[in-house]
Amino acid sequence: MAHELRHMLRDDDINHEEQKQILKLAEKFRANRFYSRPFEGPQAVAVLFDKPSTRTRSSFSIGVAELGGYPLVIDKSSSQLGRGEPVADTARVLTRMAYGIVWRTFGQERVEEMAKYATCPVVNALTDQFHPCQVLADLQTIAMHRGGVDALAGQTIAYLGDAANNMANSYLLGGAVAGMNVRVAGPEGYLPDPQIVADAKRIAAENGGSILVTTDAKEAAADADCVFTDTWVSMGEEAEYAIRSKPFWNYQVNAELMSVAKPDALFQHCLPAYRGKEVTSEVIDGPQSVVWDEAENRLHAQKALLTWLIAWQREDPSLLGE
Ligand code: CP
Ligand code: NVA
Repeated sequence: MAHELRHMLRDDDINHEEQKQILKLAEKFRANRFYSRPFEGPQAVAVLFDKPSTRTRSSFSIGVAELGGYPLVIDKSSSQLGRGEPVADTARVLTRMAYGIVWRTFGQERVEEMAKYATCPVVNALTDQFHPCQVLADLQTIAMHRGGVDALAGQTIAYLGDAANNMANSYLLGGAVAGMNVRVAGPEGYLPDPQIVADAKRIAAENGGSILVTTDAKEAAADADCVFTDTWVSMGEEAEYAIRSKPFWNYQVNAELMSVAKPDALFQHCLPAYRGKEVTSEVIDGPQSVVWDEAENRLHAQKALLTWLIAWQREDPSLLGE
């Protein structure tokens, strides 16, 4: 473990072995909330929000505190960043005080700019393009129901709905890093960026997995080990609500759709969910749904990620308990 500043801006910023290391550490945090305390001091971690949040805000706030640190939570409305102060200047200031920067914002280029000027790890807490912390938690959730982290490679996951959004992109890349068979289905006009699909295919091939992008929901869900969906109207797209309600009905996760997946397939949703739209109550509140484990795992997975990033920066594998 060489002294190196690592960031988590998109799911493929870590490789297969590194993802496994983080997920195994997340399991240790699930078993013992105070397994490692790298921010003892308390050292501050800045947690910035340009968009609303319930899970990400609570899991990072509580998570940083449980890591011994102080979570400095700043909303767009109360920061100079929200009034147009340059990202680079914000990075230069925060990095003099904080030991990590976690940011939920709009364009991916904004977190990239933050990372360029920060001298502490920067974590993407959701952009328009990616939500890598969510996918770490989702992989941890599959692992906890399917025999552990080593059982992830070779599993088939299917994501249905808005296949051009941040969750679709993150399942493509994060699932490819895990060596999974990732299937993504959505209507024409809402399919993933070809460059992300190409990246996912290359990474999946390296790790023994595969990628399928289709407009056929049942083709994607057939024999899947886990079915995912997400809102049809992401944050920032509210003005498109009427247009966006129409194209996705064939991709609703309902009992009929779940019946083509494996009989014991899991159902996950990053939340918040809109029952009766992208998923029926029968499915999300039914026996195959593991959405509350998934939400809890945000806490464990992000604590593992922060600890892992700090272990790299400090060249201190003892923080990982190894
Ligand atoms: N899944 C998720 O990121 O939820 P929040 O928007 O509540 O943080
Ligand atoms: N695609 C959703 C995810 C919310 C966690 C959004 O960006 O609003």
